[in-house]
Amino acid sequence: MAEKARVAILISGRGSNMAALVYAAKAGDCPYEIVLVASNDPAAPGLALAEAEAIATCAHPHKGLTREAHDQIMHDAIVRSGAEYVVLAGYMRILSDGFVQKWADRMVNIHPSLLPKYKGLDTYQRALDAGDRVAGCSVHLVTPQLDDGPILAQTEVAILPGDDADSLASRILIAEHQLYPATLARYVTREADPEWILDQVRKRALALEETHERESFGSPGWRVGSEKTGKYFAYFTQKLHGEASVGLLVKTSGLDEQAALIDADPELYYAPKFYGKSGWIAIRLDLGRTDWDHIADWLAKSWRLVAPKRLTRMIDIADQF
Ligand code: GAR
Repeated sequence: MAEKARVAILISGRGSNMAALVYAAKAGDCPYEIVLVASNDPAAPGLALAEAEAIATCAHPHKGLTREAHDQIMHDAIVRSGAEYVVLAGYMRILSDGFVQKWADRMVNIHPSLLPKYKGLDTYQRALDAGDRVAGCSVHLVTPQLDDGPILAQTEVAILPGDDADSLASRILIAEHQLYPATLARYVTREADPEWILDQVRKRALALEETHERESFGSPGWRVGSEKTGKYFAYFTQKLHGEASVGLLVKTSGLDEQAALIDADPELYYAPKFYGKSGWIAIRLDLGRTDWDHIADWLAKSWRLVAPKRLTRMIDIADQF
């Protein structure tokens, strides 16, 4: 199994979600390990549990510090621990934009509502007061807006006739303990998930001018130009068996460039089967080291080789200067 992703958990109190993550991480096939539990409250009960489980801890009160200064202390501790991901588990602090930016796409939070409903506090009572039939919990990526950011997963929890805020909270907590470890596992392994990889390619291909997606022999492909006369500039390949399982096919200037690329990085590039002497090149996307800016450049280059003159004319002129 590949190396485990290193995770730091931030808590402010009880730490039951932290415990769920710590116990989930004990499974041999769990794709992450917990390398740090940090808190803004040295008395947070969750810290004692982490210590007993031989996990490094760090506690630093926020009192008397600016938000930025406290976040910086937390950030430094997280970096020292070697963590690649930050998991907020009942961390009751608003984070500074700077901190959020440093951990963009690598920081997740759990919130006890079906977001975007009921951001902030009192989520249970608000769901009850609204007469909702279901409440629940959400795991989302953290962005500067409170309890905002792309939702990764949610669990619905039915509201029972006699529910009050406490009974509802304790049932939602059970759902949280299931949802958080599973969602984190999926998130840290997303780069090996062909669906996620396809989405990354799609986003970048369709960002180019006048492009659309069309399947070709069962694989997604992207074309430039009209639906009628458009030409393919990229294909996604996914083989169920065989070594190169996920890749992107783009056009090079010809066979010389194709050969030079394969020569320079034979792990990354290969000559796609069934494309003969066409100069198409395949780029592996499943090596766990994909540079997405590089892929965007390749897509743009390939687009330019097949795009109609009226679309490339301005770029050609700009190139002359
Ligand atoms: C959890 O219910 C979590 O969803 C909530 O705090 C509780 C922490 O419990 N978080 C938020 O409300 C964040 N906006 P725990 O310390 O036992 O994990």
